Amino acid sequence: MAKTMQNKGGGISDKLGATTDKMQASQAWNSIFRPGSIFRKGYTDSPRNRSYVIMNSVLYHLHPVKVKRHAVKVSYTLCFGGLSFFLFILLTVTGIFLMFFYRPTAAQAWNDIYTLQTSVTFGLLVRNMHRWAAHLMVLSVFLHMARVFYHGAYKPPREFNWVIGIVLLLLTLLLSFTGYLLPWDQLALWAVTVGTNMMGYTPVFGNQVRFVLLGGAEIGTDTLLRWYVLHVLMLPFVIVIFMAVHFWRVRKDGGISGPL
Ligand code: HEM
Repeated sequence: MAKTMQNKGGGISDKLGATTDKMQASQAWNSIFRPGSIFRKGYTDSPRNRSYVIMNSVLYHLHPVKVKRHAVKVSYTLCFGGLSFFLFILLTVTGIFLMFFYRPTAAQAWNDIYTLQTSVTFGLLVRNMHRWAAHLMVLSVFLHMARVFYHGAYKPPREFNWVIGIVLLLLTLLLSFTGYLLPWDQLALWAVTVGTNMMGYTPVFGNQVRFVLLGGAEIGTDTLLRWYVLHVLMLPFVIVIFMAVHFWRVRKDGGISGPL
């Protein structure tokens, strides 16, 4: 009888011990990660608590707490800024795909593009998406600039963001031009020859500027490598930094400018 009690007692304490272990483990886990902590809930709805919800999540934080009614009207911004950003993302994704099949040397570049178009699944489609998105981005950035000018949104307090915008326009054009050389076809070769010859007429430092741009005395593999690195690494890196500052400034300048 006593033995049975002991056994029973042991069983209960074992169970209790296991339950305590489980509770401690789940408490430890909860202290590290609580799924609800990604999107914090449980606030009662009030203007102040809405701000808390936005500020406490990195995803919500990308959106402003308040948006002016006219700012979300497509007819005001025509979404050209957003469209430019979307095209940049599309260019990055399609560009990464193209990088898997392209080698930037005079001997391989043209053949790689040819193989990409003829033998790689979706190769022709992705190449054309990249090319068209590049043309469209130049157009949409220009139209965005025209929209901003038409609304007088370059005036204080947005003058600094206008200057950031000019840098973004230049970077967009440079990305477009450096990408133009990469197929290494006749069009690319002569476009870059003409472009760099024009830069050769820079006062005083003309020859040096041309030499730096070509990576040598004349156009060749070194030029291709130079422009490739600019196109896939340096310019995208710089443009992302300027875009971040641009978007941050839109928020800091009180959101989109008022309607006319
Ligand atoms: C890569 C290029 C660019 C991107 C991705 C971009 C993106 C954006 C976005 C998303 C907005 C929010 C409102 C909207 O969509 O219109 C905006 C606003 C603005 N952008 Fe750009 N932008 C670019 C180039 C430019 C250029 C070239 C300029 C002018 C030289 C410019 C000047 C401005 C100004 C002043 C605002 C504030 C407009 C307002 O308050 O109404 N941006 N940009």
